[in-house]
Parts: sequence; structure tokens; C-alpha cells
Amino acid sequence: MEEGSVKKEVLHESRDGRRAFLKICSVFLTSLIGIAYSIPIIRTFINPALQKTVISSSGLVEVGDIRGCKVNVPRKVAIKDSRRDAWTKYPETVIGAVWVVQQEDETFKAFSVICPHLGCGIDWDKDSGRFICPCHESYFDIKGEILSGPSPRRMDTLETDIKQGKLFVRYQKMKLGIAEKIPV
Ligand code: FES
Repeated sequence: MEEGSVKKEVLHESRDGRRAFLKICSVFLTSLIGIAYSIPIIRTFINPALQKTVISSSGLVEVGDIRGCKVNVPRKVAIKDSRRDAWTKYPETVIGAVWVVQQEDETFKAFSVICPHLGCGIDWDKDSGRFICPCHESYFDIKGEILSGPSPRRMDTLETDIKQGKLFVRYQKMKLGIAEKIPV
């Protein structure tokens, strides 16, 4: 092969190599820019879904007037508070319920209606004077102590306060199926 054509060949190959390199750089940079632009969009969709759904009240919430309550006569009251799920905030929504019991010493106790076993709703059975979870038949007395059944602990008590004749409760959900009362 002549010297001139060898030089042309080498020049041609070096141009091809440069073009391929530039092409790779261009694809790489375009991908980087694409990723940089897509992060905020992905976050917009993913972030709300990662936020914790509200499962407790934001503080002590009013559950009603205590006048008219009778000793050892449980009253079921709904707990309302603002609630947020992935994308929406709902003002004043029912987030749960509690059993309120006026004690013999005139103090008040609030029990979560959620059974500590597997989370079914606990009812009050007027005839037998016991709280009953119908799912697997756990029974609790008027103080929330467990009488029988698979519940691993007594009914969950919640913090209460009384201000100007109104009862306030701090609503919290607890972990299920364990002996300790641990907020979720
Ligand atoms: S959920 Fe209440 S006894 Fe099982």
C-alpha cells in the first residue's frame, strides 16, 4: 500500500473514533439531563405516597360534654380530626372511636375500640356488663382488664383531659398482637 493511502486510512479511523466518542458523550449528557429533569416529577408522585397516613390525633381532641355520663355506663364516641392520606387533607374526619367510661371515683377513662388481638372493633354487652370482641371472643371487664380470650393485653387506655366540662382524648393506634402497649 502507498504511504499516502495509509495516512488517509489512519486519518479516517481517527475521525471515526472521535465521532464515536462524541456520540457516547452526547448520549451520556442527554441521559444525565433527562434524569435531572425527571427527579422532581418522580418526587411529585412518589413523595406523597411515602408520607405516613395519620393514624393518631394531632393532640387532645374534644369528644364531648361529660354531663349526663353515668358511672360504669360506657359511651362510644367518634374521634374526629383532620386526616391526611397520600395526596389529600380531609378536615374534621372520623379517624376512630373510643369507649368512654366514668369511673366510680368520677374520673374518666377512654379505651380504644380496637381490639389488641387483631384489630376488630370491641363492643359493649349491656346484658353481661362486659366488653366483647366478636372476632375471636376476647372479653374485658368495665375497667378494660382482660377476662378471657386471645387478646394479648387489656384494652388500650388513651390519655384524657377535662376542660370546662368537656372531655378530651389523645387518640392513638397501638401495635396489635403483642403484650406491650406500643403506639404505631
Ligand atoms: S381481634 Fe379481638 S379477639 Fe381477635
